[in-house]
Amino acid sequence: MAATELTSVVTGIRLTLHVLAATIWVGGQYVMVGLLPTARSLGSDAAKRLAGAFGRLSWPAFWVLIATGIWNVIAVQGHKPSAAWSAVLGIKMVLVALAGLGAFLHGRATTKRGLAIWGSVAGLGSTAALILGVFLVG
Ligand code: HEM
Repeated sequence: MAATELTSVVTGIRLTLHVLAATIWVGGQYVMVGLLPTARSLGSDAAKRLAGAFGRLSWPAFWVLIATGIWNVIAVQGHKPSAAWSAVLGIKMVLVALAGLGAFLHGRATTKRGLAIWGSVAGLGSTAALILGVFLVG
């Protein structure tokens, strides 16, 4: 039976950056929802200001996800991806685009309905992209 080996340093850096950015982009959205009731009790504009502060962290994390995601695709090309792997990557790309669009429109929404719809698109799209990402590692 072959021994389980450590991953290389370069792969470790690539996946650490990708996962760290995912924790901020995806995990941050859940934390924001959890903090919302408390934020609302602190004043009428507290939730909005908190959302603005989160955006200054989450958007850089999103661009790190795109950049390290491209790095991931280049890095795994040598291993001849299967048709199923490529299909899952394609679905993941659609979800990433939906998540980004949802977050962008959530930031511009002015009605409660718009905030809820686009916030859900961002949260669900991001979570689904994260799950498919785990399956891509194989
Ligand atoms: C919302 C954005 C994204 C999230 C939340 C996300 C999340 C993840 C997660 C959690 C993993 C598994 C890492 C591991 O278990 O070590 C992963 C892997 C991967 N992601 Fe992403 N990702 C995102 C965007 C992207 C983009 C834009 C691309 C391509 C341009 C991409 C390509 C990949 C690839 C190819 C892997 C497999 C890497 C490997 O096997 O070494 N991801 N992603």
